[in-house]
Amino acid sequence: MAKQNPPLIETVDLCKSYFNDGMETPVLFDIDLTIREGEFISIMGPSGSGKSTLMHILGFLDTPTSGSYLFRGQKTRVLHDDELARIRATRVSFVFQAFNLLPRTTVLDNVILPLLYHPTIPASERTERGMKAIEQVGLTERATYFTNQLSGGQQQRTAIARSLVTEPDVIFADEPTGNLDSASGIQVMEVLQNLHSKQGRTIVLVTHEKTTAEYAERVIHILDGRIATDTRDFKRNHAKNVKHLK
Ligand SMILES: Nc1ncnc2c1ncn2[C@@H]1O[C@H](COP(=O)(O)OP(=O)(O)OP(=O)(O)O)[C@@H](O)[C@H]1O
Ligand SMILES: [Mg+2]
Repeated sequence: MAKQNPPLIETVDLCKSYFNDGMETPVLFDIDLTIREGEFISIMGPSGSGKSTLMHILGFLDTPTSGSYLFRGQKTRVLHDDELARIRATRVSFVFQAFNLLPRTTVLDNVILPLLYHPTIPASERTERGMKAIEQVGLTERATYFTNQLSGGQQQRTAIARSLVTEPDVIFADEPTGNLDSASGIQVMEVLQNLHSKQGRTIVLVTHEKTTAEYAERVIHILDGRIATDTRDFKRNHAKNVKHLK
């Protein structure tokens, strides 16, 4: 289904280097990647291969050194700071390994935090939207708990609710199960999978665990800063071969 949807994210020859004290560290090389609206894609690869770097660029936390990045068909290089700020506030969101929640603050107050900076959602809608997001991750009964009174899995589900509350175009999740035991990790992945399959949300997941990656319908492997494999290509080639045989 997602294959017919328009591209949300497109990179062409995208490269990234870090520069420290005049020293260049090249990290990503010629990344050509298209992610369509409604896709659930995992990015796998060993530590240091460039997964987080790529995700940070796709999520507007960093910029490429060369090549292009188009978001909803728009070249991002030409966007002004205020347009980038608006995209960050309304169109993308993140879930991190370390949850990044405010302690001694309720689940609801954490979840509605992104709405405080939202340019169009009125203050009067914050609580209702927050509770709706909390319901989607199964934490309605915990809405008034402080986040430091929750289990790790519940904390990560709170972070997912926070990532949903603005109804972004895409959720980026960087090792969301990395700090969790396997049972909580499965719960978190089931929440993400449901958001994709029931609501058609676009999710980009970074993980180095194969079992976690396989919740997605498409998996790409990054090795030394390059896309080594993409299961979408396997499927495409398989379809071509099958056609050829007929
Ligand atoms: N700010 C920085 N300055 C210089 N080099 C950096 C910087 N951030 C990351 N790197 C380097 O870029 C490479 C890719 O890092 P990145 O964090 O993208 O890897 P990763 O695939 O997410 O790894 P992990 O699985 O450990 O999270 C690494 O070699 C890292 O040392
Ligand atoms: Mg990383």
